[in-house]
Amino acid sequence: MPHLQSRSLRVYADYLEYLDQTQLPQAEQWVRCNSPEEWQHAVKNLAIRGAPLIGLSAAFVLAQTAARHPNGDWQSVSDRLRATRPTAVNLMYCLDAMEACFEQGVAALAERAAELFAEDRELCQRMAERGADLLQSGDRVLTHCNTGALATAGVGTAIGALAIAKQRGVALHVYVDETRPLLQGGRLTAWEMADLDIPYQLIADSMAASLMAAGKVDKVMVGADRICANGDFANKVGTYMLAVAAHYHNVPFYVVAPYTTVDPACASGSDIPIEQRDAAEIRGASGAFGDVVWAPENAPVWNPAFDVTPATLVTAWVLDTGVFDAAAIARGEHCQGRGGRF
Ligand code: MRU
Repeated sequence: MPHLQSRSLRVYADYLEYLDQTQLPQAEQWVRCNSPEEWQHAVKNLAIRGAPLIGLSAAFVLAQTAARHPNGDWQSVSDRLRATRPTAVNLMYCLDAMEACFEQGVAALAERAAELFAEDRELCQRMAERGADLLQSGDRVLTHCNTGALATAGVGTAIGALAIAKQRGVALHVYVDETRPLLQGGRLTAWEMADLDIPYQLIADSMAASLMAAGKVDKVMVGADRICANGDFANKVGTYMLAVAAHYHNVPFYVVAPYTTVDPACASGSDIPIEQRDAAEIRGASGAFGDVVWAPENAPVWNPAFDVTPATLVTAWVLDTGVFDAAAIARGEHCQGRGGRF
């Protein structure tokens, strides 16, 4: 029996199991992770993904590696984990919290990781309830990437809000952006919508603007990987394009995230490090359905995993700590989190 469990992570005494998100929805395959190297491999290929889940799983890997090597160089393990994906600040939040326990030893590290896991579950519940308060029966909500239980320890961020609304009996229709190039929407969000029994339609990312022009979108709700002091935020590439279209069509645009995604040290979006990924992801695709290449071999490629949406395009920032409008963001209210980092 795992000590702790979420939709995509099982924590045992000295190893982890993760639900391999590259295999969904074709197969629900749980894979054992015994080392920082195995974790790095899983995170780089997005078998483990989503800002909160990346941070939480890193915390457990660090605690378990320290227990296995009580006299090892824990700091260099943490440094290696930290460098695996640069954009989502939740990884840095979790590793900062773990490093602050180094002097207290192995048992404290295991405890701290478990606390972070429990905290994320609670944060999800709170932000999702606040997000659900913004939704009414009949709303047609467009979302991007995957922000559900697969990406967190709890109900999720933006999808969490949809899930709580559903529990409250609010009848929604969700448009799911397929989210090129790695199809987190088409593969994972579509699967979660079916699991939650929420009516949805899958669209290619390039269809969102014309869907808005046709008056078929009432709200956009997305997650975030890092929110800056000025309210700019990074999220899966394609989010910015949605925000521009929503602004043009007067569609409210909400970002839903825990305070652990806020980085007050980042003044604005231009300070966020954006991960660049392999050209093969754009020249073709690979996954449970096999490998396909459609572009000329060696076609030059630009492949940023995330983009930055400026604060001016956001209607409200829905955090566990509150719902903030532009004026509250300008006063820095979103930076007043409860965690050790602030
Ligand atoms: O590259 P991914 O799949 O890890 O990107 C995930 C996202 O962009 C999510 O929207 C973000 O992490 C917030 S979700 C909980």
